[in-house]
Amino acid sequence: MSTVRLDKYVSSALILSRKDAFSAIRAGRISVNGSVLKKADAKVDPSSDEVAFDGKKLTYSEFIYIMLNKPSGLVCASSDARDKTVFSLFPKEYADKGINCVGRLDKDTYGLLILTNDGSLSHKLLSPKNAVAKKYFATCDKPFSESDKEIMKNGIIIDGKRTSEAKLEISEDDENSAYITLTEGKFHEVKRLCYACGQKEVVFLKRVEFASLLLDESLEYGEWRNLTDDEIAKLRLVTEGGK
Ligand code: URA
Repeated sequence: MSTVRLDKYVSSALILSRKDAFSAIRAGRISVNGSVLKKADAKVDPSSDEVAFDGKKLTYSEFIYIMLNKPSGLVCASSDARDKTVFSLFPKEYADKGINCVGRLDKDTYGLLILTNDGSLSHKLLSPKNAVAKKYFATCDKPFSESDKEIMKNGIIIDGKRTSEAKLEISEDDENSAYITLTEGKFHEVKRLCYACGQKEVVFLKRVEFASLLLDESLEYGEWRNLTDDEIAKLRLVTEGGK
C-alpha cells in the first residue's frame, strides 16, 4: 500500500477533522510503531506501520461505510429546505468527509440505509446493470392475496417502462403484511406495486435487506454503526457478479 500523511491517517481512522487530527498529533497522543510522533506530515504505510491513539491501535480505512437504521421523518438528501435529513444523525465530521446515501428511502420509510464516501462502490451498487436486491417489509391497509404475487412478478409501468420482477412473500402471521424484494429502485416502487394490487395503501414500510446485507436489528431507529470488513467485502462481491 502507498504511504499517507500521518494527519490524514489519524483523521480517517478516528473520523476527525484534519485540524483535530493535527492537534492530537501535536499533543503527543499518536504513536507510530511504539514511538510518539509529533510530525503531522510524516508519511506512514498503513499496511506495515502500527499507529496508535493514546496507546490504542488504529485501523486505517480510506473510506467510511455506515449502516443506518433509518427512522421515519428524515429525508435522504444532502440538504432540504423543509425537512431534516438523515445527515442530522451524524457528527459534522462525517458530512465533511463526503458521505452520501446509497440510494434513497422515502421520508416515511424505515430501515436499512447504507452511507459511504466510496463513490465507486456506491455507483456500482446503484447501477441497474448489477440488479442489486432490496428487500422490504410492508404492511398495507388491505390483505395481500395469492394473485398479488403474479402482479408483482409481471411488474407495472412506471415512467413508460415495465418494472422488473418483484417477489412477494405474504406474512404467515398477518395477511396485511409481506416481504417484497426488488432488484431496482424506482421512485415509490413498493408503494406503487402495492397500489397496483387492488389499491392497497402502504401504512408501514421498512427495508430489511440491501445487497445481501441484513439490517442489524440491534440498531434502534436512528442508530448507526460502521460496516464490518466482512460486510464491506459482501457489498463488493455483489457488484462483481457474486451473490
Ligand atoms: N419503495 C417505496 O415505495 N418507498 C421506499 O422508500 C423504497 C421503496
